[in-house]
Amino acid sequence: MSGVKYGVVGTGYFGAELARILHDIEGAEVVAVYDPENSEEIAKELNCAIEKDAESLCQREDIDAVIVASPNAYHKEPVLYAAQNNKHVFCEKPIALSYADCNEMIEATKKNNVIFMAGHVMNFMDGVRRAKQLIHEGVIGDVVFCHAERTGWEDAQETVSWKKNREISGGHLYHHIHELDFIQFIMGPATRVNMVGGNVAHQGENFGDEDDLLLITLEFGGNKYATLQYGSAFRFNEHYVKIQGTKGAILLDLQDVKVVVKTAEKEEQFLLHASKEEDEDRARIYQNLHGGIAYGKPSQSVPMWLDTIMKRELQYFHDVILGAEVEEEFVPLLDGTAARASISTADALTLSLNEDRKVSVEEVILKNEKLNA
Ligand SMILES: NC(=O)c1ccc[n+]([C@@H]2O[C@H](COP(=O)([O-])OP(=O)(O)OC[C@H]3O[C@@H](n4cnc5c(N)ncnc54)[C@H](O)[C@@H]3O)[C@@H](O)[C@H]2O)c1
Repeated sequence: MSGVKYGVVGTGYFGAELARILHDIEGAEVVAVYDPENSEEIAKELNCAIEKDAESLCQREDIDAVIVASPNAYHKEPVLYAAQNNKHVFCEKPIALSYADCNEMIEATKKNNVIFMAGHVMNFMDGVRRAKQLIHEGVIGDVVFCHAERTGWEDAQETVSWKKNREISGGHLYHHIHELDFIQFIMGPATRVNMVGGNVAHQGENFGDEDDLLLITLEFGGNKYATLQYGSAFRFNEHYVKIQGTKGAILLDLQDVKVVVKTAEKEEQFLLHASKEEDEDRARIYQNLHGGIAYGKPSQSVPMWLDTIMKRELQYFHDVILGAEVEEEFVPLLDGTAARASISTADALTLSLNEDRKVSVEEVILKNEKLNA
């Protein structure tokens, strides 16, 4: 194969940008798009066809790979269509809103021997890669604790986006699965989890129905823990991950935008993104990003820091389709299993909140196995 032909399902804010990025990759061509509302503009811009639905797009013989960027609850169907038609798939995060759905998607893509890459774009930030590398080299010793916050305040909305609707987005935890995914990447899968919270300050018709305050504890066994806070009920905005090791610590500051590595000998600071300009751009944008949710229009370009990491992840997907070897670190990113591990933990957390108890992640997995037996 010398080139790759793509179809894109869902061409809103993110999908349209993913399509534009693909259009500019050498050897990539966007052949068709499908979106119930927003396909015309991008189809005209990229000079490609408009399909009537996701199934017909996936059935096209001239398509090798499908990008899924529809709202979160509508990822599963196009991923299954793509797999059934032997197309490789790149699916935006969260890949699905339940462990059972993730499983079905993984099984279908595996059976048809196609790549199933999750859009966990944080993996392509320079600062994240550097942090992982330093941890791998033992610079901060054994990681024993992580703490992440992705919190802010959201005012009443004139129109309430699907991103605020729990059924479609999954709520803050699923929609912002990045931090949980990153922590599990570093610490391994959580074993027992607990979540408290609820919708404490956002009831009424100008708000969605998601919980606006989520307080999470993860246990990993071996005396290792993590805590996370998510939501739009926090008057002080925060967005960071702190990684605490036996010999040092790393701060990934996604709001004031820097990476700080601290050991007994020294404290060093690195860029989070590809340049100082990108870090400063992100910091400036974050001053106006309320509640951590990015709203955008299909015609709107993404910020430059996001553009760079989206370009990197799509280039990676493209290269792997063309036969490039997958780095060990990225194997679970390219077969859906890392994304599924995050969702199984999110499901256990949801159960914990609903039933007011600590839940073992295995319970979610075993329950699914029993249902399928
Ligand atoms: N990786 C990231 O950092 C990141 C950032 C933003 C969004 N996303 C993800 O990208 C996806 C899209 O988000 P967005 O910001 O572009 O939202 P958006 O609302 O701007 O776009 C969603 C698009 O999907 C279309 N759509 C609705 N139902 C559909 C269906 N059944 N099939 C196909 N298309 C359908 C809508 O018409 C709309 O054009 C979501 O899964 C979101 O979580 C990821």
